[in-house]
Amino acid sequence: MKYNKTITLKDGKTCTIRNATEQDAKDVLSVFILTHEQTDFLTTYPEETSFTLDREKEYLKDKADNEREIELVAEIGGTIVGMAGIAPVGKTEKVKHRVSFGVCIEKSRWGLGVGRALTEACIECARKADYIQIELEVVSENTRALALYQSVGFVEYGRNPKGFRSRTSGWQEIVHMRLELDRYPNK
Ligand SMILES: CC(C)(COP(=O)(O)OP(=O)(O)OC[C@H]1O[C@@H](n2cnc3c(N)ncnc32)[C@H](O)[C@@H]1OP(=O)(O)O)[C@@H](O)C(=O)NCCC(=O)NCCS
Repeated sequence: MKYNKTITLKDGKTCTIRNATEQDAKDVLSVFILTHEQTDFLTTYPEETSFTLDREKEYLKDKADNEREIELVAEIGGTIVGMAGIAPVGKTEKVKHRVSFGVCIEKSRWGLGVGRALTEACIECARKADYIQIELEVVSENTRALALYQSVGFVEYGRNPKGFRSRTSGWQEIVHMRLELDRYPNK
């Protein structure tokens, strides 16, 4: 699936939201590791990623060629500052209407509107790909992310009090959220 849009951020800078390509693999991997170092709210620790550069290239190429998946980057002045993507929950008949969403932004760029732009872009792509429900999980203390998700229409449907076990903060409660993209599907 293809996406390309340029927006103006809160600081007046221009940001491009576009597909990650094979050529971005090195930068995407670096930003992935950096963002996972900068926050305790993501699912994995930086050293847990099993992706090599070649695997990342392959992954991004597959994403770009797939009509029901997307991996987006946010680029400011030629630098990748964040990523977001959607991936199907499953391909079988009973679950193929569901897609999961994830996003991370480099910390020095928080609060500028990049997260909102990436989130809205993923929702638009999920709609285009005919998904009916977009889903995510967020740590309950991640107030910034929760505010963003609620503002675009995600609603909570449950909590897991022992969802994550953080090395530094112990148990982290996970909030499950979903957004119906088509409330009355005729499918
Ligand atoms: C959560 C995250 C994606 C938000 O991205 P961002 O670029 O900082 O967000 P934006 O600047 O687009 O702001 C989006 C909304 O977040 C909320 N927000 C922003 N700053 C906030 C703050 N300091 N406190 C509370 N809410 C805040 C607001 O609702 C804001 O919308 P508005 O500015 O239109 O009012 C980003 O902080 C991040 O990558 N965090 C680490 C990784 C992570 O937690 N990912 C999500 C895992 S579920």
